[in-house]
Amino acid sequence: MCVTGEIMKYAIETNKLTKKYGNFLAVDELDMKVKNKSIFGFLGPNGAGKTTSIKMLTCLIKATSGKGIVAGYDISKNPNEVREKIGMVPQLVSLYSDLTARENVELCADYYGVTKEDKEDRMDDLMELVDIKYAENKLVKQMSGGQKQKVSVVASLIHRPDILFLDEPTIGLDPTTKMVLWDLIQELNDEGHTIILCSHDMYEVEKLCENIAIMNQGKLVAYNTPQNLKDNLIIEKEKLFIKENPVLADLQNEIMDSNNVNDFKLNNDLKKELDTYIPTTQLSVMGENLTDETVEEIKGLTNVYSTKFNHDGRITMDLDQFSNKNGINEVIKIILKNNGVVTSISTNDPSLEDVFVNLTSKKYNKLDEEAK
Ligand SMILES: Nc1ncnc2c1ncn2[C@@H]1O[C@H](COP(=O)(O)OP(=O)(O)O)[C@@H](O)[C@H]1O
Ligand SMILES: [Mg+2]
Repeated sequence: MCVTGEIMKYAIETNKLTKKYGNFLAVDELDMKVKNKSIFGFLGPNGAGKTTSIKMLTCLIKATSGKGIVAGYDISKNPNEVREKIGMVPQLVSLYSDLTARENVELCADYYGVTKEDKEDRMDDLMELVDIKYAENKLVKQMSGGQKQKVSVVASLIHRPDILFLDEPTIGLDPTTKMVLWDLIQELNDEGHTIILCSHDMYEVEKLCENIAIMNQGKLVAYNTPQNLKDNLIIEKEKLFIKENPVLADLQNEIMDSNNVNDFKLNNDLKKELDTYIPTTQLSVMGENLTDETVEEIKGLTNVYSTKFNHDGRITMDLDQFSNKNGINEVIKIILKNNGVVTSISTNDPSLEDVFVNLTSKKYNKLDEEAK
């Protein structure tokens, strides 16, 4: 709930939020919205401006220009109100190493003015939630990275913030501890906390986040759901592919002409061209009762290439990326029609990592071109 008592749609909204260090633009007119009660991923290579953005949104540093609304409050006009609504797990754990876990959390509770009665209960509950209660009396300097990270999470939640910022929380943690933290992030979100998750880890972001923003060199270069970003990459590659293949582009244009749609020779020429150049997605279907007839029928589909039948119950094929989704449907239809059963299906679609590399290397490419 925001100040006015209305249900807030966005936990965070920024408008041209900018940070300059001298002449250096660390964050360049950031415009983004984070849906209330969602998990939002913030991706970008080192130096992209993620931590700087988070520092502005958590009122640790002042923005040079632009606007940011966090939990309904303006970061430049009402920083104290913002601070009460947010929790922050910084990139570098900032705990007192000569104090115990519990003492650290207690300091934080006192800083936020949590009452004495609430304090003890909350500390117990949160420590149990993240499973660190067993080490509450251990000195921080004697703790492992994962344990410190958990204490940091408890400290950031002690004043019950609506929004939690996590700046690369799982970096350097072993896979098991990572998974524990992922479960915790999910659990906190289920409880109603909005989570901003800064990360390099594509798997982590894809697993947890509803929406993601990718930053590069201070600018937002993408903002979407992970799936849409992957789909967009396919579309972008298709367009580039046609552009770079004039023969194919001409053939496509000719066939698009309504008089030629059914022209056998033209279609055949196009198929030949596609056979030579087309970027394909490999599809692998496992099933039961797959027969040679089924495979022959799949081979007859247009836009399906290199179909192979492995008699262990697997058919592999290459689908051209122009008809990817439809192609998969057609293949499944044929299997079902021939009384086959599909038990598993997989493709090598682009990963979020491909999207990341594609978007964050663009700027460099552009700079290279300009330098020529
Ligand atoms: N206090 C500062 N003074 C000058 N430059 C800074 C300062 N803090 C960060 N930067 C620069 O701003 C850019 C963005 O940094 P940062 O936000 O930490 O990136 P990220 O968290 O995405 O790795 C980097 O080039 C960094 O060197
Ligand atoms: Mg950072």
